[in-house]
Amino acid sequence: MSRKNIVAGNWKMNLNYEEGLSLFSEIANMAKDEVIGHQEIVVCSPFIHLSSIVKLAETSNKVSVGAQNIHQAEAGAYTGEISASQVRSVGAEYVILGHSERRAYFGETDALLAQKVDVALKHQLKPIFCIGETKEERESGRFFEVIKTQLEQGVFHQDATDFSNIVLAYEPVWAIGTGLTASPEQAQEVHAFIRETLTQHYGEQVAGQTTLLYGGSCNPSNAATLFAQKDIDGGLIGGASLKSRDFIDIAKVFN
Ligand code: 13P
Repeated sequence: MSRKNIVAGNWKMNLNYEEGLSLFSEIANMAKDEVIGHQEIVVCSPFIHLSSIVKLAETSNKVSVGAQNIHQAEAGAYTGEISASQVRSVGAEYVILGHSERRAYFGETDALLAQKVDVALKHQLKPIFCIGETKEERESGRFFEVIKTQLEQGVFHQDATDFSNIVLAYEPVWAIGTGLTASPEQAQEVHAFIRETLTQHYGEQVAGQTTLLYGGSCNPSNAATLFAQKDIDGGLIGGASLKSRDFIDIAKVFN
């Protein structure tokens, strides 16, 4: 997968089945009518919507579908969990891994996430791997170190070929759902650092081909200036992805 512009929505634990299908249909129709660039639009829904929205996606051909989590094991006695192969079997292409909400509320560690990345890639699911610092880590100035460790422990065990199927999303925890967006300069500073860290590990070519998304209170008013930054290739959108108009307007920044 080479570097591209992606606008991905993370619905989190919102929308019942009917509401999800209805929102997805709106998004798919608007995308077909209004999105004219090469940007990729991805919707990461709860598991219950996946198989139905994959079918809706096929009719418009403009939106890809992803999950928000998988279990690290292949299969077995893990009551209530969902595997990578199950997600792939309904036709989803992406999976969000390492989201700060999963790190914070479900105790997901870098070591666990490394296993989830392995099993996702093994089953041809493309991880949207999230990294980012907390408010305290930003204020203490340790954020570069935090982000480097998350990369080293979560994804750097992949060889360059497998790594090329991973999308990275920088989501400062202090900007998620708070209305406090990182300024374009703050976001670009970290994105440039991420690309530099990738260059050191995988070389310039791989680093240059990696898609780096920004996430955290992204909306139709701030998306254009964020996405105009040199190392920002798109966004991972929470709240604004629940409104078809806002989500498509964010995607249209790349028209
Ligand atoms: P908000 O856009 O609601 O801040 O959420 C960002 C996010 O967590 C996307 O994964």
